[in-house]
Amino acid sequence: MDQPKIQIRNLKKAFGSKVVLSNINLDINAGESFVVIGGSGTGKSVLIKCILGLLTPDAGQILIDGEDVTHVPAKKRQDMMKRFGMLFQGGALFDSLTVWRNIAFGLMNAQGVKADIARQIALEKLREVDLPETVANIYPAELSGGMQKRVALARAIAGKPEMIFFDEPTTGLDPIVSSTINQLIVRNVRHLGATALTITHDINSLRHIADRVGLLFKGEFIWVGSVAEMDQTDNPYVKQFIQGLPEGPFTSLQ
Ligand SMILES: Nc1ncnc2c1ncn2[C@@H]1O[C@H](COP(=O)(O)OP(=O)(O)O)[C@@H](O)[C@H]1O
Ligand SMILES: [Mg+2]
Repeated sequence: MDQPKIQIRNLKKAFGSKVVLSNINLDINAGESFVVIGGSGTGKSVLIKCILGLLTPDAGQILIDGEDVTHVPAKKRQDMMKRFGMLFQGGALFDSLTVWRNIAFGLMNAQGVKADIARQIALEKLREVDLPETVANIYPAELSGGMQKRVALARAIAGKPEMIFFDEPTTGLDPIVSSTINQLIVRNVRHLGATALTITHDINSLRHIADRVGLLFKGEFIWVGSVAEMDQTDNPYVKQFIQGLPEGPFTSLQ
């Protein structure tokens, strides 16, 4: 078996007395698309932030290509960030920057790419997410929600990341726009050959994107398997989640 791209071992994270991640164990293989599902407030975004180094875990380890990166110094962290692409929950574009400057932000600020070259790359990325070059010089507020998501995707892929994280990429979009975003995600992740971790509530999105799925509940992955296994499992938590049922183990435990 090849070395997993990302390994998470006994990861713990609490805020004060509130334990969010109690014991996370997960291996994600190189080139794999892993999808995390789970109720609101179960720590899905916190998990991504721990992997990215935006939050420091209380215990446990995160290994990338077998190397422990849980507590790397700031300079090395900066180098590592170049290997990551991220689409934040809500898209989180900079209102005061034009579309091309949003896409080029990481290239110019973290990687020191000069403006004229960064602009060329941004225009190329606009094409890769099927947006016309004419949007390059306008501001995010002038775009529809679906177009903003495309720009956020273009920004996430701009640095040709090895690993890419999508936090609820289709939340708030209508089903047709969501399908388009899902297709663009799959196409661009494949094109990069990247390893992807996506958080979603959207089962349709999951079916488009996932190789494997993990269900996060009370700080742990209580079920991990392929999409085919997900459809066949008797696990009542998974069944309630994928069928969107109002009654089930989640409801009775709340
Ligand atoms: N920086 C923070 N400080 C304190 N509490 C936080 C912080 N970030 C997240 N939390 C709490 O951790 C829990 C999980 O949050 P989050 O990972 O955002 O959930 P979700 O699964 O919906 O993405 C929530 O109760 C949230 O309030
Ligand atoms: Mg979240």
